[in-house]
Order: sequence, then structure tokens, then C-alpha cells
Amino acid sequence: MASMGGAGWEAMRSMRRGDDLKGVKLSRDIKRRILRFARPYARDIAIFLLLVTVTAAIGVATPVLAGDIVNELTGPDGTRRGVLLLAGVIAALAVFEAAVTLVNRWYSARLGEGIIFDLRRAVFDHVQSMPVAFFTRSQTGALVSRLNNDVLGAQRAFTTTLSGLVSNGIAVALTLGVMFFQSWQITLLSLILVPVFIVPAKWVGRRLASLTKESYDLNAAMNTQMTERFNVGGAMLVKLFGRPEVESTEFSDKADRVRSIGVTTAMYARTFIVALTLVAGLSQAVAYGVGGVLVFGGQLTAGTVVTLALLLTRLYGPLTALSNVRVDVMSALVSFQRVFEVLDLRPLIREAEDARELPEGAASIAFRDVRFRYPGPDEVSLASLEDLARPDLGDNGRAVLEGVSFTVDPGELVALVGPSGAGKTTAANLVPRLYDVSGGAVEVGGADVRGLKLSSLADRIGMVTQDAHLFHDTVRENLRYARPGATDDRIWAALDRARIGEVVRRLDSGLDTVVGERGYRFSGGEKQRLAIARVLLKAPPIVILDEATAHLDSESEAAVQHALDTALEGRTSLVIAHRLSTVRRADKILVLEAGRVIETGTHDQLVAQGGVYAELYRTQFSETGETTVN
Ligand SMILES: Nc1ncnc2c1ncn2[C@@H]1O[C@H](COP(=O)(O)OP(=O)(O)OP(=O)(O)O)[C@@H](O)[C@H]1O
Ligand SMILES: [Mg+2]
Repeated sequence: MASMGGAGWEAMRSMRRGDDLKGVKLSRDIKRRILRFARPYARDIAIFLLLVTVTAAIGVATPVLAGDIVNELTGPDGTRRGVLLLAGVIAALAVFEAAVTLVNRWYSARLGEGIIFDLRRAVFDHVQSMPVAFFTRSQTGALVSRLNNDVLGAQRAFTTTLSGLVSNGIAVALTLGVMFFQSWQITLLSLILVPVFIVPAKWVGRRLASLTKESYDLNAAMNTQMTERFNVGGAMLVKLFGRPEVESTEFSDKADRVRSIGVTTAMYARTFIVALTLVAGLSQAVAYGVGGVLVFGGQLTAGTVVTLALLLTRLYGPLTALSNVRVDVMSALVSFQRVFEVLDLRPLIREAEDARELPEGAASIAFRDVRFRYPGPDEVSLASLEDLARPDLGDNGRAVLEGVSFTVDPGELVALVGPSGAGKTTAANLVPRLYDVSGGAVEVGGADVRGLKLSSLADRIGMVTQDAHLFHDTVRENLRYARPGATDDRIWAALDRARIGEVVRRLDSGLDTVVGERGYRFSGGEKQRLAIARVLLKAPPIVILDEATAHLDSESEAAVQHALDTALEGRTSLVIAHRLSTVRRADKILVLEAGRVIETGTHDQLVAQGGVYAELYRTQFSETGETTVN
């Protein structure tokens, strides 16, 4: 009975997945590709399937032997020895089956986990190599959970689906074959009940599929709500714009619907299994009743009736499972397809085949007539993730940089100023090749960045971004990210030089203090200085700094200023400046407006010139002085 229940549950589970498959088109070569992917496992798969077959065969042999025993007991020439011999064979088969099951599990586990391992590693490495543009477009949480599900689904293709197909197929074929051989009349009679069961089962399956889909969607929506609201930024917004009751109602409405769906599906599922058991039980009664009459008529032996009745219990589960096999195979293929889709995304930014190392000491930056527009969704995002992607800003294709040229010589400090949205951050991101230019070239150390090794660029350039991201980890680990294995002494030295050492020393756990999600445990100025300390620890020849636009109080302002003085000393620096003190020290100021450099010179020259910079200086840097230039 157990085996029937198992196959029954499997069948039901595949019904639940049914609706996901509507409208999915499989690419033509997907099967060939999966085969290629499975080739290293060919031997394991073959052994696995062989063992599955053996188990299915034993499943049929035992009822036949049980019938033989009954015949020994009731027949004219039954012997004690014959009965014991048959019982011994049954025992041996049971032991053999146990052993085969264990070995089989080993192969299936190794196969399944091996496939998960391969896919996970491939997907992680590939997603990691995607350009920043990809991450600005996909909801990372959704992507990650999708990939997790699909990797598991692909694994299931090889273990559950394949083994189910083979073992149920063999079980049904063998069972029916043996049954027909024993008594075709009873076999036909008991099969009459099959459509009686399968037709309503299909209906239940459709209901289950749509309910399950609905609850998946609701769960996804609840997850999104939780991840959006339960991070520091989101939680603060909820409190500040104060609608906790509304949030709570929205959440509990969904949770409530999930609750009632859960009850309904539980009842459907149980009804399905009960019906399966009931039909099997009824057909067993038919077998016993009709078979018994035939025994009295002398057309059948008692043993045959027992064999038939026992075989019937093993027929309905596998039969139902097989009736759903198309759904199973399809969902497995779709999982593979989704994983392959991610693996097929061509990273827009790749290292050239003949990429070179940057020579020692090369530390100049040059922009040569650089043009840039942000890549559109068709270039970076994933067709099947379209429904998860954020709605498009409709701003693609607009040129953000329109022919920008300038140079930063080794050791020079160049400041980039201009109104918000002028393209300053965009220009800075082109230097470490977070994006590639659409026209012209960005050079570091005299070489086009597209011809350089990505690792050598990353080694040379230290960047402090506008919002100074920190990982949710200790201060020590956040700093060490820039230089793995740095000693505490060096970390303290960097912290001190960035004027944040005192702050960290005052903390109870010092370097072991956990930074808090997105650095929220530190003030804006402190976070900036931690980020500066991280760059100091790395000590790169080129520093790119996107000053925070947020206003700092005069004390942190001074501290950040000192930290910067140290950080930029003797390095090639490109600073997006929002503070007068930085701009004043610059060897050269570039004024960027709407994607073009409109003025170049030192502070004094530009003020004297009386152009855009002079205006900015008067209105934005103002008397209070050290505030922001936007
Ligand atoms: N990932 C992106 N995808 C599409 N467009 C973007 C993206 N990031 C920025 N933009 C657009 O590019 C333009 C330049 O943005 P950028 O961040 O370079 O401005 P900025 O000069 O650094 O401004 P701020 O002083 O406010 O930091 C803006 O119009 C912005 O809308
Ligand atoms: Mg910016």
C-alpha cells in the first residue's frame, strides 16, 4: 500500500505544478543540451535506472510468490517444504530489495546533488560576472529565489522525474502483464474503475494547480513586502510616513487568503489520496469477489486470486503518476531552460582575450571623446525575468555623456563639478569599467581599459561611492575586503588616518562591531570615513571619490576633509566634489553640464572667468561655505 501512496502523492504534486506551464515555449535544442549536460553522469544514470528497474521487478515478484504459497497451502500437492522454500525466496527478495534500495539512494543522491552543485556553481559565477547594469535592472531577491527553485527543479528532472517515469512505467507494464497472464477477465474488470478515477482526478489536479499558483504568488508578494519593509531604510519610511496599520492589513489579507487556500488544498489533496485508496480497495473487492466465484467454478486457483488482489494495490498509484508524466517532464525541461537562459546571458563587459596587465606605476586617466548611454533592458535583462524586472524608466538610449575629453596626470587631483544629473557619477564609473563607453575611449595608464585585465584595473583603482556601501559584517571584515588578511595594526592605522579610529575605539566591541545593515549603525560622515579607510588600506595609485551629497555637520565635515587629504595624498585622484575645500585644492576643475565639459581651469581661473562655475560658486558654495555643490 505504501508504494501506491507514494506514487499517488507524486502524481498529485505534479498536478499542482501544471498551471505554471501554460504558454511556455521550449527552445528546440533544449533536450540535446540537457543530454550534453548529463553526459558526465551517464554511468551513474545507467546504474540508477537499472536499480530502479530491479526494484520494480521485485515489487511484482513478491505478490506472485505469495499466490504460489496460497496454492501450496490449498492445492492438492502442496508440501511443507514447498511453502518454506517460497517463504525463504520472499525473505531473500526482501533483503535484496533493501540492499538495492540503499545502493539506489546513494546513486540518486550523488546524481541529484552533483547536478545541483554543477548548476549552482555555474550560475553563481555567471551572475557574478554580469555588469552592474544587470543588477540595477533585476530584483536580486527574486532572481536568487527563482534560480534556487529552478536549480532544484532541474535536479528533480534527473532523480524524481526520470526514476518515476522508469519505475512507474515498468511497474505498470509488469503488473498488467502478470495480471493478464493470471486472469484477463479480472484484470479487465478492475481496469473499468480506472477512468472512473482518472477523470475526476484530472479535475482536482486543475483546481489544485490554480490554487497552488495563487498561493505561490501571494507568498511571493508577502516576501517582497517583508524584504522591502524589514530593512532599515524601508522600516524608517514606514515609521516616518506612518501607515503601519495599512501595511498590517495588506499583509494579513494575503496571509488570510493563504490560510484558506492551505485548508482547501489540504482537503483536495487528502480527498485525492483517499479516492485513490478507495478505488484500489474497491477493485480489490472486485478481484476477491469475482475471483472467488471463479475459484469455486474451478477456473482459477486461490493463489491466483491473492496474487491479483495484491498486484492491484500496486497498479493505481503508478498509473495515475504516469497519466501526469507529461507535466513532470515539461516542468523539468522548463527548469533547465530557465537556468540555461541565465547562463546564456552574455556579460556586456568581458575581459578581452588578449587582455594585458597594467604596467607598474601607470596611474594616469584619460577620457577621449567619451560618449555614453545606459544600456536598455533588451541588452541586459532576462526575457523570463521580465515579469520580475522593475518597470522601465523609459529613459534608455538617452545620451548621458556626449563627447567628454580630459586627462588626469599621475599624482594630480582633478575635481568634477556640475549640477545634479550632469553625468558625474556616470563618468567616474567608466574608469574601473563598471560600464563600457558607447563611443570614444577611457584610458588608464595610457591603455584603453577594454584591453586591460579586469583584476589589474580593480587592483589599481580605489573607489569611494556616493553612498559608501558596507556589508552587514564586522568593521574588521568590511575593511579587509579591500585587502584580505590585513593585520589589525594595519587596519587601525588606516582607520586612524581616515579619522575614524577614535570612533571605532569607543565602541564596546571595537573592530568586531557589526556594521549593521547597509551601515546604518554609523552616521553618514562616519560611514564615509570607514569607506575612505577601506581605500587607504588598499592603498591604490588611483583614487576615485564620489563625495556624499548629504550635508555634514562642521565637525564631521572637518574629519572627512582630513581623511580625504590623507587618502588623496600622492595619488592620482578624480573627485566628484560637493565641497568648496576639495574644489579649492584641485589642480584642475572640470565643470560638467548635460554630459559635456563646459569649463576647465583652477578655482581662481574659473571664478575670474565669470561663467557657470563662478555662478555655482556664488549660489551653491555660499558664505556658510562648506556645504554642497550640486
Ligand atoms: N543605472 C542607470 N540607468 C539609466 N539611467 C541612469 C542610471 N544611472 C543614472 N542614470 C541617468 O544618468 C544621468 C546622469 O546621472 P549621474 O548619476 O551620472 O548624475 P550625477 O552628475 O552624478 O548627479 P548627482 O550630483 O546628483 O550625483 C541622470 O539623468 C540619470 O537619470
Ligand atoms: Mg552622482
